Amino acid sequence: MVQLTLPKNSKVTGKGKVYKAKKGDGAKIRRFRIYRYDPDSPENPRVDIFEIDTRGVSMILDALIKIKNEIDPSLSFRRSCREGVCGSCAMNINGANTLACTRGLDEFGSGDISVYPLPHQPVMKDLVTDLSNFFRQHAYIEPFLQAKTPDPEKERLQSHEDRARLDGLYECILCACCSTSCPSYWWNGNNPGGEEYLGPAALLQAYRWLIDSRDEMTKERLDKLEDEFKLYRCHTIMNCAQVCPKGLNPAKAIAEIKKLMVNRPNGQGATAK
Ligand code: SF4
Ligand code: SF4
Ligand code: FES
Repeated sequence: MVQLTLPKNSKVTGKGKVYKAKKGDGAKIRRFRIYRYDPDSPENPRVDIFEIDTRGVSMILDALIKIKNEIDPSLSFRRSCREGVCGSCAMNINGANTLACTRGLDEFGSGDISVYPLPHQPVMKDLVTDLSNFFRQHAYIEPFLQAKTPDPEKERLQSHEDRARLDGLYECILCACCSTSCPSYWWNGNNPGGEEYLGPAALLQAYRWLIDSRDEMTKERLDKLEDEFKLYRCHTIMNCAQVCPKGLNPAKAIAEIKKLMVNRPNGQGATAK
């Protein structure tokens, strides 16, 4: 069910803390406005302001690590690879979903930098969101090769051309930047066991397996997407393609799935390959 207003206890209220940096000695001071939420406190979320000397700090993730190490060790965020590979550090920076580890401070002009958790997901603490629903939907599309024919003696081969069809699809790192920036996903993206929109990330992966020449479950895969919500709530708003840190285009993949749906004879067999 769509909820258009935040519950009272989720609104940012009150004054956040302000941590001033020491000026002088050539310090290059930058202000970060960071969303804070502590599940163990009865207080509403707040926005704290951290000033830091950014000499030697190039990426947003480096700045967050500096704040955590030197100012407030309770600041919580996810990260792992710091190379744009694991997808853990996805967050909303100056209003757009992105990866903190691949974005330089110099990309955000000279003003304050706002850092919020990914939108429309339950917040567990500070910048850490609960992505259980996102990964449940990824599991729903069964993101693995499925075949009906007996296993060959060696591997299942694929031509260079068929392999090339997976380019622009397999590179997804499941960061959730796309789905959590999609208005349709905000409204319709969370209804376990009921009608729900699966969102751009899950659908990009659904298409990746639909067009894999080695997969033999095309009809069944399309059947699982065939209702009014799972696929058809995409209205081509394109936020997904705009924010994807890997330069992928989930909206195009969704359009291709819609074509596969239209082209299957009498809604039965599939014509994907
Ligand atoms: S194009 Fe579709 S999936 Fe992408 S943001 Fe828009 S509605 Fe969402
Ligand atoms: S499609 Fe892009 S934005 Fe979406 S989960 Fe994959 S890598 Fe992240
Ligand atoms: S820390 Fe892995 S993508 Fe940013």
